[in-house]
Amino acid sequence: MTAPMTTTTAKPRILTGDTPTGQLHLGHYVGSVKRRVELQDKYEAYILIANMHAFTTRSDKPDEIRRDCLEIVRDWLAMGLEPQRCAMVLQTEVPAIAELTYFFAMLLPFNRVMRNPTLKDEIKVKNLGENYSFGFPLYAVGQTADILAFRAHSVPVGEDQVPHIELTREVARRFNQMYCGVDEHAEDDDHEKLGGVFPVPKADVGTIGRLIGTDGVNKMSKSLSNAIFITDTHKQIKKKLGKLYTGRQNPTDLGDINNALFQYVRTFIPDVERVKELERAYAAGENIGDGHIKVEVADAINELLEPMRERRAKYEGDDQAIIDILEDGTRKANVIAEQTLLMAKDAAKLKFFERDIVLK
Ligand code: TRP
Repeated sequence: MTAPMTTTTAKPRILTGDTPTGQLHLGHYVGSVKRRVELQDKYEAYILIANMHAFTTRSDKPDEIRRDCLEIVRDWLAMGLEPQRCAMVLQTEVPAIAELTYFFAMLLPFNRVMRNPTLKDEIKVKNLGENYSFGFPLYAVGQTADILAFRAHSVPVGEDQVPHIELTREVARRFNQMYCGVDEHAEDDDHEKLGGVFPVPKADVGTIGRLIGTDGVNKMSKSLSNAIFITDTHKQIKKKLGKLYTGRQNPTDLGDINNALFQYVRTFIPDVERVKELERAYAAGENIGDGHIKVEVADAINELLEPMRERRAKYEGDDQAIIDILEDGTRKANVIAEQTLLMAKDAAKLKFFERDIVLK
């Protein structure tokens, strides 16, 4: 790149991503992907496969991680993200991200990184003890680089990611103050206008942060075997929902409409009047059985998933088609990320010459 390229649209940018951990399920859909599908038109959208992040805890499983990367793209496509409307990006082929990670690590006190509650939680939940890799906490710094490489204005994420966005905002402010002369009292929204390289990005947290799994108790998660996958058949969906525990005994018992089953009713039955009617009848104990409601919910979920399964089937077995989509998105990503890196290097007196990134 000889001169910095300008981006093709004036829309604000969003960047979000997933760590490849296996197939996506309904919890991912209602918690984040659905919203991305809605946002892909309003924004210049980038969606990242954080495949290096998968190595933080699974560096011994490169084959699995590679397979999970391709599966995640299949799921995105199935759920309605479109490569023409949002760039699907492979993190490890955007070198600017790795370079910015190294740089931003210099701007953050070590203790500040370790104070991140999401990191602390993960250490506990995944039983990492004191044996995590150096790269594990570094991924939090890496995530700030994922976002800032795109100079994203907004980051659509679930609640659990908010501490990462907070860290990102700190990095952006510090960089802009230290190297771009932005005043420390400047409003976050004014940083770019005042000459800062980085916008101070906002977390955009969706409304349904947490879909209960089919056990009726825990958050839906593959590792808890309480997930409905988009590849599940109508029959499998019915069977999984059949096991959902509500504690209610008889169709004439007064039902609790705040139970897990009714979260499903409200989330998946599109007819608002029908939802109200079910809530009323359930609460009143009007001879309406849980089994009956589960069948109705299963039908609604099946209707939602049917077109997804069809779209997904088109890409089944064809890895090259997926890789081509990723290459395309990653090429777009490198245009902006290289531009950002050059701006950052210029500001920090690290720009000695320029370079080209070429995907062959
Ligand atoms: N940490 C996120 C997760 O596990 C994935 C992620 C990586 C991400 N980089 C990102 C999300 C940048 C938003 C923005 O879900």
